[in-house]
Amino acid sequence: MKLDEAQRAAQLQFGKQSAQYGKGHILADVADVAAALDDIALKAGARALDVATGAGHTALYLAGRGFCVTACDVAAAMLDRTAEAAAERGLQIDLQQHVAEVFPYADESFDLVTCRVAGHHFSDPAAFVKEAARVLKAGGWFLLIDGSVPNDEPVAEAWTHQVEKLRDPSHGRFLRQGEWSDLCEQADLVVKSSELQPMKMPDLDWYFEAANTSEENRVKVRELVKQAPAEARRVFQLVERDGKVIWWWQRLTLVAAKEG
Ligand SMILES: C[S@@+](CC[C@H](N)C(=O)[O-])C[C@H]1O[C@@H](n2cnc3c(N)ncnc32)[C@H](O)[C@@H]1O
Repeated sequence: MKLDEAQRAAQLQFGKQSAQYGKGHILADVADVAAALDDIALKAGARALDVATGAGHTALYLAGRGFCVTACDVAAAMLDRTAEAAAERGLQIDLQQHVAEVFPYADESFDLVTCRVAGHHFSDPAAFVKEAARVLKAGGWFLLIDGSVPNDEPVAEAWTHQVEKLRDPSHGRFLRQGEWSDLCEQADLVVKSSELQPMKMPDLDWYFEAANTSEENRVKVRELVKQAPAEARRVFQLVERDGKVIWWWQRLTLVAAKEG
């Protein structure tokens, strides 16, 4: 598998950190996926592709609903975690190791493509959305969930970019809400809903542990939190209380359709 620099960084980072993404991780709560799929009419047996599956929380949920699931990731260790969890639950998932920017699947082979909390690592989000559109059947659905930023908040956007990059060097960029919609339109996907919702983050130490952030960068992030501009404090509801940092991610849930 030929990888670019960003893909290699993600493979390295998540290859090392796969054990952190299992049961106790905030991503194990798939209420966001369940809520988004409420408005999507798909029958058991529908073919779903979960891109950048990580420890497989989304893929496992889809398989549990009776969909026929393929899950992919650039990091083999993450696919191993998914395989273990699937075996534990008696679920069948087809696992494939490849990048999110090029898929090895035929045109029009899936009813649903999902991608949750991974897009901000991708080296080429436009290529990823084009591939998602290509492999969807006419009448198929695209569900994207990721950290994002409101369209007109450049100061908050620059702040969160600095924080995330220091925490996890494989972070690429949180795309603005409107950017994801634009990418869908360019790929001929029709955006049906796009919603930003605040999502409470666990405390900073947990956040560092999940990414194995270096001591040096933890100090830098704490300094950025202390010096956070008013715009970032407002957008991320950032406060320090009793020595704890409380903040809320802006989570984007976007549903688009491939109309036939
Ligand atoms: C936070 S985890 C994903 C969580 C998962 N989707 C869920 O719902 O629990 C991010 C994953 O993205 C994968 N990843 C990052 N960049 C990638 C790329 N360009 N292609 C494929 N996978 C990628 C990482 O290896 C990692 O497993």
